[in-house]
Amino acid sequence: MCGIVGYVGPRQAEQVVVDGLRRMEYRGYDSAGVALVADGTLATAKKAGKLKNLETELAQSPLPASRQGIGHTRWATHGGPTDTNAHPHVSANGRVALVHNGIIENYASLRAGLEAQGVEFASQTDTEVAAQLLGQEVTRHGTLVDAMRAVCNQLEGAFTLVAVDTAAPGRIVAARRNSPLVVGVGDGEMFVASDVAAFIEYTRDAVELGQDQIVEVTPESYEVSSFDGEPGTSKPYHIDWDLSAAEKGGYDWFMRKEIFEQPQAVADTLLGRLDHDGQLVLDEIRIAAADLRRVDKIVIVACGTAFYAGLVAKYAIEHWTRVPCEVEIASEFRYRDPIITPNTLVVTISQSGETADTLMAIRHAREQHAKVIAICNTNGATIPRESDAVIYTHAGPEIGVASTKGFTTQVVACYLLGLYLAQVKGTKFGDEIRDLLAELEHLPTKMQSVLDGIDQTAKLAGDFVDKKSILFLGRHVGYPIALEGALKLKEISYLHAEGFPAGELKHGPIALIEEGLPVFVVVPPQGRDQLHDKVVSNIQEVRARGALTVVLAEDGDNEVDAHADILLRLPRVPTLFQPLVAIIPLQYFACELATLLGHDVDQPRNLAKSVTVE
Ligand code: AGP
Repeated sequence: MCGIVGYVGPRQAEQVVVDGLRRMEYRGYDSAGVALVADGTLATAKKAGKLKNLETELAQSPLPASRQGIGHTRWATHGGPTDTNAHPHVSANGRVALVHNGIIENYASLRAGLEAQGVEFASQTDTEVAAQLLGQEVTRHGTLVDAMRAVCNQLEGAFTLVAVDTAAPGRIVAARRNSPLVVGVGDGEMFVASDVAAFIEYTRDAVELGQDQIVEVTPESYEVSSFDGEPGTSKPYHIDWDLSAAEKGGYDWFMRKEIFEQPQAVADTLLGRLDHDGQLVLDEIRIAAADLRRVDKIVIVACGTAFYAGLVAKYAIEHWTRVPCEVEIASEFRYRDPIITPNTLVVTISQSGETADTLMAIRHAREQHAKVIAICNTNGATIPRESDAVIYTHAGPEIGVASTKGFTTQVVACYLLGLYLAQVKGTKFGDEIRDLLAELEHLPTKMQSVLDGIDQTAKLAGDFVDKKSILFLGRHVGYPIALEGALKLKEISYLHAEGFPAGELKHGPIALIEEGLPVFVVVPPQGRDQLHDKVVSNIQEVRARGALTVVLAEDGDNEVDAHADILLRLPRVPTLFQPLVAIIPLQYFACELATLLGHDVDQPRNLAKSVTVE
């Protein structure tokens, strides 16, 4: 939520900052702004709405040349999305400009204190409190880094702050607590940002900042310290993807590109998981086998799409390990006083690795002495750093706000974890695990075959542009797929969409069925006869009441033919793996429908990619 960038170096800062904001706009697009230090004064420009509004403003009224600047793209929390509430915020003495990601929870009392001293506020934001405090503290302490430390020690909540000082040319100071911040180390230039995408064009060498750390950067150096002023350690790393991964590469939307990247992303997530003896190895899991053998309950905690990946995983994990597995929405987890013991394994799933609700759930679980394994797509993000172990999904950057390859790779990582636990606990024989892994390795090809036939889904979207409501049904692992299919549609098409367990419809929601209402039904593979036949009956129940049935069923399943108004064929795969092929037409349908409706698919209204507030 909110993208932040800062630059010092030989290039024109405005261009670098605006380019960085463009690559981070997925994090928030309520407003955008920049502040540059030029000849000892601040020059700022900020505009409500998407970045293009700021770009138009900058084209009309260019800012002076400068080698030092900060920028921000906002997802509004405190104060509406207006020009005045846009960041950067400048202190009353005109000395510092500051951008912020997160929420300053004690801003009201701090603001009251400042107002009592006569400070006049220009905006309704919590951020301006930090800017005003920084302006006062820099006068008191002399240096921006000491002033930043003094400010951070007064703030409560989650924040990444980045600031420039007119009295400190060629220097940027940034700080973080519960919110992301990385440094990009270039050759004679430095970057700070919420996400490496902001500077991937210039350098692939990054440094992750730890909790409660401050960094001071100049073109040649970066110095990390704690909020207490102690020298800090930081972890340099090399980014294993390049600029092309962060660009659309000829597609109209990142989302469409990311849907097509799924076979490769799944293959990459599966890569190198077997050792010479045919044993499944998860190098990243540094939890002793003895501890894993003691696990008597698994709790998966996540939000949104990642939560649905967890729901899919539950079926596989319980089936393979015979360990009870609960799946919980992260924002609810700690408030219900969950029963957690040292033998509980908490698995968190997060594409971004920064989701505040999930992070707080991890902290709660660890306070209760549970071991936490994170499934994450972002190297070095806060969630993997605060967990006992991590399985990285290797999906590459996911930029479309609606998660696609994030989901399928999360499901695969959960399967790997489930099989690993089964191996450690001895609930599956080695050859059974190898057979399942072999099946999984076929999945990228099967997913590709769905994509090869995706035109039928695109045409379907064209036929449904006038629909106001769409339902999704599934049973077993098809149920979370129904939920995820509905979420995709809500997020980017703004249509009423709901997913239901197919058997639950008759307990109420069937009242929603009326003539012509589209109902997508995910039909399980035929092998599991009871399950399959029950779903076929459910299709007939809705069709008898006028629903227009869109049936997703495997190749060769002819029992569904008579009950499908529209039939979308899926390749044959084992039941537990069907989510990986069944979700693709639903993702694509949502993407295509939203495109036809004229919506911004990558930046849907009111949303942001990385939700760093609770
Ligand atoms: C999915 O399309 C979302 N936009 C959203 O539900 C997302 O999955 C959720 O916010 C969790 O994000 P995370 O995976 O980065 O933690």
